[in-house]
Parts: sequence; structure tokens; C-alpha cells
Amino acid sequence: MSIAPRPPIPSLIPESAPFSPEQRTWLNGLFAGMISLEESVTPLSDAQAAKLLPDLLDRGAPVEADDGAPWHDPAMLLPDRMKLADGKPLPRRMMAAMAQQDCSQCGYNCKDYAEALFTKKEERLNLCVPGGKDTARMLKNLYAELGVAPPATKAEAAPAAAQPAPGRSRDNPVQATFLSRRRLNKPGSEKETWHIEFDLAECGLDYVVGDSFGIYPANDAALVDAVLGAFDAPPDFPIGGRTLREALTDGVSLSPAPDMLFQLISYLTGGDRRQKARALAAGQDPDGDAATLDVLAALQKFSGIRPDPEAFIESLDALQPRVYSISSSLKCNPGRVSLTVDAVRYAVEKRTRLGVASTFLAGRVSPSDKIRVYVQKAQHFALPADPNVPIIMIGPGTGVAPFRAFLQERQATNAPGHNWLYFGHQRSDYDFFYQEEFVAMRKSGLLNRLTLAWSRDGTEKIYVQHRMRDDGRDLWEWISHGAHVYVCGDALRMAKDVERALVDAVAEHGKRSPEDAARYVAEMKKNDRYQADVY
Ligand SMILES: Cc1cc2nc3c(=O)[nH]c(=O)nc-3n(C[C@H](O)[C@H](O)[C@H](O)COP(=O)(O)OP(=O)(O)OC[C@H]3O[C@@H](n4cnc5c(N)ncnc54)[C@H](O)[C@@H]3O)c2cc1C
Ligand SMILES: NC(=O)c1ccc[n+]([C@@H]2O[C@H](COP(=O)([O-])OP(=O)(O)OC[C@H]3O[C@@H](n4cnc5c(N)ncnc54)[C@H](OP(=O)(O)O)[C@@H]3O)[C@@H](O)[C@H]2O)c1
Repeated sequence: MSIAPRPPIPSLIPESAPFSPEQRTWLNGLFAGMISLEESVTPLSDAQAAKLLPDLLDRGAPVEADDGAPWHDPAMLLPDRMKLADGKPLPRRMMAAMAQQDCSQCGYNCKDYAEALFTKKEERLNLCVPGGKDTARMLKNLYAELGVAPPATKAEAAPAAAQPAPGRSRDNPVQATFLSRRRLNKPGSEKETWHIEFDLAECGLDYVVGDSFGIYPANDAALVDAVLGAFDAPPDFPIGGRTLREALTDGVSLSPAPDMLFQLISYLTGGDRRQKARALAAGQDPDGDAATLDVLAALQKFSGIRPDPEAFIESLDALQPRVYSISSSLKCNPGRVSLTVDAVRYAVEKRTRLGVASTFLAGRVSPSDKIRVYVQKAQHFALPADPNVPIIMIGPGTGVAPFRAFLQERQATNAPGHNWLYFGHQRSDYDFFYQEEFVAMRKSGLLNRLTLAWSRDGTEKIYVQHRMRDDGRDLWEWISHGAHVYVCGDALRMAKDVERALVDAVAEHGKRSPEDAARYVAEMKKNDRYQADVY
């Protein structure tokens, strides 16, 4: 049977209507779908187009539903993602610019953040924490393609979203009381991981296991002092009702120096220094040190500059919240929430760089301090609704956090379903988080299996996926009895390796070809029987 070629989509949007080519193509396609193309069509007037636009924008951006988003892979590098999305509609290319973790730190998943930018419901281009500067820079370029603002006013085109309930979104945090921290590694460990507790009684927040907890951190006071000193700025300089020191403490990020800062520096320098600042502002790397330039290092590189404090603050990015998997169940800990936080510290030349939120929780916040927080609802990461369903949880390192919560919940509800936990870390002597609890759960029978993988106990690296391969037959047995499988932790390598081990177990013990096994696991994902919370 031959299929008649589709007639070209007529141009319904007048050339004079102030849309970018991207918007024009989309709107033409959309109108063509809405209006019967068998009838002769009269192009819309500017006014008609403008009248329809707000409604259309509200319906969301154009999406090729079946393009499969092949770039949606957190292990893929940005240039490769952009190559795969080349030629796709703008919102899809915007999505490809995101870090692909669907981590919700921006308040959306990757696809929805892209669509919110495209429809101008969201204007902040730097919300993708894992994507960092590269994503923000790419989004800035893509955003420029949106061109002239649509004729409808912004308020019409993008009606302000209703204020989210308190404590339910990064845009409306509440205050919780920091209670305590306890080191989870024993002395001798190479890691620094903390069990952190907050009291939620006053703010009344609740959560379910699988959710994450967002916190607004503050920068290290010594770093703030060093930044103030680096441009000889008066700490008490007033900025919008606050002092410069306060703005530097919890208003702006002092981590990667943003392009805007280099732009500002280029106005304050001359000659070779100006050329370098301009190059850095354009994303180039004239001295091969761009990746190491946080705000302080940038000021030190261009030492002697004296930016106006207000312009300096304006040139920096807002300090973003960070989210952590909740590692407790409210049923066992009424009015409380706990987190399992790995402190990020690393050296660049002589200075130790600090992960802002993890070291804030690991050291700078004190018991009874009030912190701005919110609960980030999990999307597709939850215990099975049926308490009889067996679960297999794979959580090396801090990835164990949500599984401690799952187990507490199953204990509190006397859920009869079987539970199997894979935990792995560097050394059994130092890095067995929650050892007493898990051993007790194993003894009580709540944990039917506890499988451990220590990567630095011997000469050979043993990872959770190696243990999964050893256990392939039993894994398949559990899965064929309906078990749900969960993975949490590192998105870049571990989650991929674990999935490969799972597919191989299905192939070998489920007697399937590799392709059928991959399809089987894809189907598990589709049916929420294989869920991931990776970062
Ligand atoms: C859904 C979700 C759940 C999460 N759950 C947890 C959890 O349970 N526990 C947990 O600890 N974290 C968790 N995270 C990660 C957490 O949100 C933060 O990203 C993490 O704590 C780092 O934030 P930070 O502010 O301390 O570091 P940042 O100030 O954001 O600095 C981190 C950045 O520093 C750089 N960096 C880090 N190490 C090095 C190095 N060795 N060399 C050079 N550069 C380096 C990298 O660019 C990195 O992106 C989760 C994330 C998500 C999205
Ligand atoms: N965005 C951030 O700044 C940030 C902050 C905290 C954590 N993280 C990331 O989140 C993840 C969790 O960190 P964590 O401290 O909880 O633990 P981790 O560093 O991931 O280590 C946990 C265990 O996983 C092992 N491992 C390494 N590669 C693996 C792989 N491909 N497959 C399976 N296991 C692997 C480690 O072994 P070896 O180390 O011995 O190889 C270690 O035994 C890490 O990837 C970390 O980079 C990111």
C-alpha cells in the first residue's frame, strides 16, 4: 500500500507576527492540527494569533512524543547529548542541555524544566545543580533562540503558578530545627559521612519514605571573609536591606565563578587581563584553569580589582538548595527526619574546597539552629502499594539512605513482603553504615537477605553489581515472584552497572536473549517495578 505524501503545513502565522522561527513552526503545526486542513485556510491575523497564544503556551511546549529522548542518560556528556538532540524542537534541545538526572532539584524533571523555560513560565536558567555552569551556558544560548517575547504579556502567557503549599517546594520553604549529627564511618575511613537529624514538630512537615529533603545551606564564614578580603569590600555595605556579608553568606553561590562575574571583571581590567576575563566569560579557558575557578579563585586571579559590592553580588548566581534522600520513616520517628550525607571536600592547590550544603550539615550548623527546608515529593520512587510484594534494594554508599527508610516503614507496618538489601562501600571495618540496625533487622527476620560488597578490603574491587552477578539465580527467582527492584546512589557509573547486572541475570536465569532481557527490564521500569533515585 502506498501512502500519499503529507501536504506541507500551510503558514497560518503571519510573517509579521512577532514570533521566533521556532515558535512560528510550532504554532503553524499546532494550528494546522486544530483547523481542518481539507478546507481552505485563511492565515490568521496578528491579533488572532496573539489571542490564541497564551492558551497554547499554557498547554505546553511542542514535544515529539515518540522521539525516545535518546539523550536522557546522565552518563552522557553534554556535547554528545546536544548532538543527539540536534535538529529537534527547541524544548527538546533545552531538555538535552539538562543533566538528565530527573533529580527534581530544579523543582521539575528535566523535560518539564525545559518546557517551563520554553513557555517562559520559568525564567531561571541556572537551576540545574548537577549540570552546573555548562548547562546554564547552553540554556542561555538556547533561550536566545526564543527571540522576541510573544505579544501577550508575560502575565497572560504564563499565569503565575499558585503558591505551593509551605514546605512542599523549593519556592516556599519552611523552617525546621537542626537536631544532631553523628559520624557514620569509624576512625580510619577515607570517607566522611554523617547521619543528620531534623525536628519537624514546629513546622509540622510530613513526608513518605522515598521522598527527599531540600535544605538551604549557608556558605562557610571563612570563605566569605576571604572573598570580602579579596576585593577589599566593607562587610557592612548595605545591599537590599542586608549587609554585604549576609548576602555573601546565604544569598549567592561562591562555587563556580559564573560568566557574569568574568564579564564584570572585564569591565574593571585592561589589556591582557581584560582579554582573559572576556574569554572566560565566553566559556573559553585561556589559561587551562577555568574548571578550578570558584568566586575566590577568580578574584585572586584578577587581583586588585575593586568591583562595586552591589554589582558584584548581582554578577553571582543565587545559592541553590540541595536535596538529600530521606533515610527515616515518620512512623518510627514521629516529627523527625534523618538524612545520610557524604561531606564533599577536595583540595585544589593549597585550598580545600567545600561542598556548600554537605559541609554545612557536616559542621557549620548547630543543634537548635533553624534551617529553611522543604520536602521534595518522590516521582516513581516508593514502596510497593501492596505490602506483600518482595523488594530488592541496591544502595552503595549514601545510596542506602532511602532503603533504611523503606525498612523502617516495613517494620512499622508489619509488612509481610520479603526484603533484600545490597549495601557496598569501601571498607567493612569503617564504612558499614547503620551496621547494628541492619544486623538486628537481619536477626529479627525483617531483612531476609543482606548482601555486602567492600571495594577496598582486598586487592580486587568488589562492587554491589559483582555480588548481584554471584546471586543471579536468586535474583531472578525473586523477580519472577514479583519483586520490585530499587537502586539509589551514583548516577554516573554505578546505576548503569547495576542495570547491566540485572539485565544479565534476567538473560541467564530467565533464559532470554540479551535483547529480550533488556526489554524485560525496560518493561519493569515502565511498570514501576524497577525504580531509581540516582544523583
Ligand atoms: C534526589 C537526590 C538525592 C540525593 N541524596 C543524597 C544523599 O542521600 N546523600 C548525599 O550525600 N548526597 C545526596 N545527594 C547529593 C546532594 O544533593 C548534593 O549534590 C551533595 O551533597 C553535594 O552538594 P554540596 O552542596 O555539598 O556540594 P557542591 O557545593 O554542590 O559541590 C559539589 C561539586 O563539587 C565538585 N566536586 C566534588 N568533588 C570533587 C572533587 N573530588 N574534585 C573536583 N571537584 C569536585 C563537583 O563539581 C560537584 O558537583 C542527592 C542528590 C539528589 C539529586
Ligand atoms: N554531586 C556531588 O557533589 C556529590 C556529593 C556526594 C556524593 N556524590 C556522588 O554520589 C555518589 C555516592 O557517594 P557516596 O559517598 O555515597 O559513595 P560512593 O563514593 O559512590 O562509594 C560507595 C561505594 O561504591 C563503590 N563504587 C564506585 N564505583 C562504582 C560502580 N561503578 N558501581 C558500583 N559501586 C561503585 C565505591 O568504591 P570505590 O570508591 O572503592 O571505587 C564505594 O565502595 C558518588 O558517586 C558520589 O560521587 C556526589
